[in-house]
Amino acid sequence: MKKIIAATKNKNKVIEFERILSPLGYKVLSQSDAGIELEVGETGETFEQNAYLKAAAIFQASGVAVIADDSGLEVDYIDKAPGVYSARFCGKDTPYSVKNAAILEKLKEAPEERRTARFVCAICYINPKGDVIKINKTCEGKIAHTQKGINGFGYDPIFIPVNGSKTTAEMNEQEKDAVSHRGKALRSLAEELELRLDF
Ligand code: IMP
Repeated sequence: MKKIIAATKNKNKVIEFERILSPLGYKVLSQSDAGIELEVGETGETFEQNAYLKAAAIFQASGVAVIADDSGLEVDYIDKAPGVYSARFCGKDTPYSVKNAAILEKLKEAPEERRTARFVCAICYINPKGDVIKINKTCEGKIAHTQKGINGFGYDPIFIPVNGSKTTAEMNEQEKDAVSHRGKALRSLAEELELRLDF
C-alpha cells in the first residue's frame, strides 16, 4: 500500500480520506501518526492557496507523499460566506450547533430559490519528488430550514445536496461519499495517480 500523510489536524477529514482512499490502495497516516505536530496557518485567500500552503509545509517537514484539503461551505444568499473562513466562522471553538444556527438565522427571510449553497474542496497532493497535483470539486445544494441529522461533522446538519431531501448529516457514510465535494476530489485524485505512472 502507498503511504500518504494527511496534512490536517481535523480528525473528521482524516476519517473521510481513509474511508475513500484505502479501498483504492492508499494507506493514509494522520499528522500525529507521522509524528508531525506542525500547525499551518491558513493565510491564503482561496481554498486552493490554503490547500497548497498546508501540503507544502508538511511535505517540507516529512519528505513523503502528502495530501491536504482546504474546504468549506459557500452560501450564496450571504455572498458565499463563510467560504474560506468556514472553520473560523463565529469563532474557531464555537460549537457547530451555534454556527449552523447563525447561518439559518441569516437566511430566515431568504426565499426558497435563494437558499442555494455548495461545499467546496480543494485538494493538493505532493509526491516524494515534489511534484504537485491540485484538484477542486464542489457539491451543489441548498441550506435546510432546520438542523437535521447526527452523522458527519461541521455544516452537514444544514446542507442538502441537489436532487435530494436529506442533509449530509442524515446520510450514511457511503451516501455522503458518493456525492460529497471531498469524495469527488479524492476519487479524481486517485484516477490521476493511476494515470501518472511516475507518481
Ligand atoms: P479547513 O479546511 O480546515 O479550513 O476547514 C474546513 C471547514 O469547512 C470545516 O471545519 C467545516 O466547518 C467545513 N467543512 C468542510 N467539509 C465539510 C463537510 O464535509 N461537512 C461539513 N462541514 C465541512
